[in-house]
Amino acid sequence: MLLKKRYLGILPVLLVATFVVWRLIQFVEIDVTQTGEEMLSFVDVELSDEEADRLDRDFIPGIEFVTSLTGLWAIRFLLAAFLMSPISLVVGKSFPLYFRQSIGISTGFFTTLHVLVFVLSEGVLEIFTRPELIFGFIAFLIIISLTLTSSKRAMKLMKRKWKSLHRWVYFAVLLVMIHLIILDQSWLLYGILFGLGFVFRIKPLKRRIKALKS
Ligand code: HEM
Repeated sequence: MLLKKRYLGILPVLLVATFVVWRLIQFVEIDVTQTGEEMLSFVDVELSDEEADRLDRDFIPGIEFVTSLTGLWAIRFLLAAFLMSPISLVVGKSFPLYFRQSIGISTGFFTTLHVLVFVLSEGVLEIFTRPELIFGFIAFLIIISLTLTSSKRAMKLMKRKWKSLHRWVYFAVLLVMIHLIILDQSWLLYGILFGLGFVFRIKPLKRRIKALKS
C-alpha cells in the first residue's frame, strides 16, 4: 500500500491545516522586489453590510484578521491536543500516535505563525511592552518546546524528564487564557473546555472512570 495504515491519522489534520493556510494566503501579499518589512503586506477584509453594522466599521485591517485567524487555529489545535487524553479515558481507546503528533505539530505551527505575523508587523520588542503579550510569549516558548520534543525518539532520550516537560502544557493553557482575557477576546467557551480537560485529569476521577470501564 502506498500509504501505511498508521500514517492515515495524519490526513484529517493535514487537510484542516492546509485549508487554514490556503485561507491565510489569500490575505497575505509578498513583494519580492522589496526588502525588510516592506516585503510583507496584508489585504484588508471587507465586511458584509450586516457585519459592518454589528461591528460599526466597513473592513477589518488585514493584519488584524490574520493575527486573529492564526491565534484562533493555534488555540483550537491546543484544545484538541489537551482534550485528547480525557476523551481517550472516557471512550476507553487511545488515539493513534501519528494523529496525536500531527495535532501537536499543528499547534506549534499555528502558534508560530501567530507570533511571526505579530513580530513581522510590530517588531519583536513590542511583545515586551504589554503583559498580555508577555504571557502569550511564555506560552509560545512552552508550546514550541513541547512540539520539538513530541517524537518517540525524544520521549526515549529524555525518559522521565519528558513527562515533567510535557506537564508544562497546563501552565501554557493558563497563560493563553490570561492572554485572551486581558486582550478582551472571547474566552468563555475555551475556558469551559480547557476546564473540563483539567477536571478529567484529577486522579480519583480518572481512577473511577477506569474502574467503571473495566
Ligand atoms: C508572543 C506571543 C503572542 C503575541 C505577540 C500575540 C499577539 C496577539 C494579538 C495582538 C492578538 C489580538 C488580535 C486581534 O486584535 O484580533 C492576539 C489574539 C489571540 N491570540 Fe495571541 N499572541 C501571542 C501568543 C499566543 C498563543 C501562544 C496563543 C495560543 C496558542 C494565542 C492565541 C490567541 C487567540 C485565540 C487570540 C484571539 C483571536 C480572536 O478571537 O480573534 N496567542 N494575540
